Amino acid sequence: MKFMDLHLGYEKRRDAIDKRIASIISRSQFIFGAELEELESELAKYVNAKYAIGVSSGADAIMLALIALGYEAGKDNSDKEIIVPSFTFFATAEAPAFLGMKPVFCDIDERTYNIDVNKIESLITKNTAVIMPVNIFGQCADLEKIEQIAKAHNLFVIEDACQSFGATFNNKYSCSFGDIAVTSFFPAKPLGCFGDGGMIFTDNEEYYNKIKMLRHHGDKGKMEHIMVGMTGRLDNLQAGILLEKFVGFDNDMDERIKKAQYYTENLQDVITTPYIESSNKSVYAQYCVQSKDKDKICKALNDKEIPTPVYYINPLHLAPVFKHMGYKEGDLPVSENLCKNIFALPIYPEIPQTDQDMVIDIIRNAVK
Ligand SMILES: Cc1ncc(COP(=O)(O)O)c(C=O)c1O
Repeated sequence: MKFMDLHLGYEKRRDAIDKRIASIISRSQFIFGAELEELESELAKYVNAKYAIGVSSGADAIMLALIALGYEAGKDNSDKEIIVPSFTFFATAEAPAFLGMKPVFCDIDERTYNIDVNKIESLITKNTAVIMPVNIFGQCADLEKIEQIAKAHNLFVIEDACQSFGATFNNKYSCSFGDIAVTSFFPAKPLGCFGDGGMIFTDNEEYYNKIKMLRHHGDKGKMEHIMVGMTGRLDNLQAGILLEKFVGFDNDMDERIKKAQYYTENLQDVITTPYIESSNKSVYAQYCVQSKDKDKICKALNDKEIPTPVYYINPLHLAPVFKHMGYKEGDLPVSENLCKNIFALPIYPEIPQTDQDMVIDIIRNAVK
């Protein structure tokens, strides 16, 4: 069984995607172009942000956002702290560390797995510059509370929405919170392209103008380089593919939610299924569960060639690369414990019910 069958998402729109790709190739409009502009405008409208900028990946999006806020490479950012959850994909902490900033790791809420908003204030120091919550597995963190904390302490907020495009929090779309929000179009994401890609959203015109230049070598236009940037654009072929995948995106997310609910209804009495706050609509970028019988369950599933990847094997405060920061086991117990017990089940909009039933039966038999 496949963990995620991306090919089925393509099959549903094969004609439209193939036509779009052929049209872009016939125009040879590969870098910048009509598709990129249309995608930026469509997605900004969808999430209700003033501006959207297509970029090369989610990790680059975080970097470009931080540079736009003033933490550029080449500057001494070593006293600039950014509060991030410890339970997330590495890029959340990697991007600020790449710019020389200091990630400060916060523990998570044991039910939602998102940053614990009650622990953020104790981590704020005179050096704190940014809070960057992550909407883990497609469910928004308590973004309104985080915005309040940031306002009270005069800090920036970047919404790491790399897993949550299409999710909502109090009926507002993910990617519309914070000073700047970023998402990823990595193929396995809720809205995925056929390679790497990402997008940055903001209501701030100054950041918008700056990021547009930064993604294109700090070029103000006609090769007038006024800042140090990068090759950070979303290419036009990926933008064209995303435009076609965006048709029917809401249906795809509804299907994904239905599949997640099916697992939950059939498994919640035997394992810990995802907890979704009433304020949230999750897009279930992953369907992750916990069990004290993890080893037994995973062995039973793996024996039938059903993959059960672990997001995440290590909390980031214990990642080898951050050893010098002095964190030790026991510092962030909720994140540490979760990493020991969590594993993911196959989920995607087109997953056949027979596959889900097989997963459910094997789990129920394993814990009998
Ligand atoms: C929370 C989070 N942040 C950042 C990223 C980086 O995105 P990308 O893989 O597009 O660079 C990811 C991607 O997996 C992610 O899940």
